[in-house]
Amino acid sequence: MLEDGTFKEILEDRYHQYRSKADTLRDQGEYEAAAKYYRKCAGVMRDIAEKESSDRMAKKRLELVENLSSAAEKLENAGERDQEPARAGDSNPSGAPSAGGGGSGGGSSAGPDSTDENETVDAEAYLSEVPETDFGDVGGMSDLKQTLRDKVIDPLERSELYEKYNVSVVNGILLYGPPGTGKTYITEALAGELGYNFINATPDEITSSLVGEASKNVAELFEVARANQPCMVFIDEIDALAGKRSGGAQKTQSERQMVNQFLQELTDIQGEDVIVVAATNLLEEVDDAIRRSGRFDERIEVPPPDETARKAILRVHLREKPVLTEAINWNEVAEKTEGFVASDMELLATEAAYEAIDEVDSVDDIQPIAQGHIDSAIDEIEPSGPAA
Ligand SMILES: Nc1ncnc2c1ncn2[C@@H]1O[C@H](COP(=O)(O)OP(=O)(O)O)[C@@H](O)[C@H]1O
Ligand SMILES: [Mg+2]
Repeated sequence: MLEDGTFKEILEDRYHQYRSKADTLRDQGEYEAAAKYYRKCAGVMRDIAEKESSDRMAKKRLELVENLSSAAEKLENAGERDQEPARAGDSNPSGAPSAGGGGSGGGSSAGPDSTDENETVDAEAYLSEVPETDFGDVGGMSDLKQTLRDKVIDPLERSELYEKYNVSVVNGILLYGPPGTGKTYITEALAGELGYNFINATPDEITSSLVGEASKNVAELFEVARANQPCMVFIDEIDALAGKRSGGAQKTQSERQMVNQFLQELTDIQGEDVIVVAATNLLEEVDDAIRRSGRFDERIEVPPPDETARKAILRVHLREKPVLTEAINWNEVAEKTEGFVASDMELLATEAAYEAIDEVDSVDDIQPIAQGHIDSAIDEIEPSGPAA
């Protein structure tokens, strides 16, 4: 038997993968498929609860199981009626269970995900050291990596040279592409590649869980960034920052202030070792003032992975698992995974491992992951990308 701790980690990993899959499907309006994944989340969370040594934690986990199941139910009903599920609660969009149970497992990461609602967070909490991943962990996507080398890494590393030619070095980049294609992952790897500290905040966090008003939160985030140079500030889902979805053309005073503060910060960091990477699934939804500011003229598409990338991404996620590499028909895997985005390929690695684990009785009897396991796993997974 694997030790409980390790097993719990595997389960938590799996939970996160199912969860992001479920959230993505829900956002795409694929309610039935989303419901299926919320059910899977609930199942895994129930297993995690069983491994919990503290009653209090176990109870919290089981509450989340309830939440997940009722989210699944709502979505199933919505699916049948083929309409958007009723928005449940105020702060909690579209029947999604509230965040929680995630990440906070071993009390390891003090990230925003692990805080209770309404709890205030210090901007420092969003800061992490140089990420451990780099481009070596990014499977495929060679064009994208080359673009980032040419447009970001090289200018930063040889800034004097660029200055001599009076070419300004970018410090704002906008990544766009469908969910699960690796925007967050690649940005982290980019920070790792550059050796930059990393701040990761979403507009939701900027507007709600940090202390004080949104514009002050923005100022505070950048203050932390400046104090921790070289630093990359990653704003995920920037379309939600005073974007069209949040309140249409009518911006509140406080939203305007926040956007202005943000643009001011982008100006102020010129010449400092702070760069801002923003990501969005919805380029058209990004606030006009931000789009036209000239600060994000460097726009880089993160496309769904092609066949080569799909193979490479799967290899990355199988790297630390026992696999019969030579016996796998990678080309066939690539063909069968048409429509899979990067996060689907990661899920595939986990599911294939589970298929193999099911056949194993003890650690003395490890069976490597083989073609059959991968094939069954592929059949289980609903591709996130557009159908082939
Ligand atoms: N090029 C890649 N190589 C290996 N894994 C990747 C790659 N791109 C994404 N992933 C995996 O897919 C998951 C989802 O990617 P993510 O960056 O969250 O997507 P996005 O931010 O575009 O929605 C990540 O957890 C990561 O493990
Ligand atoms: Mg992301």
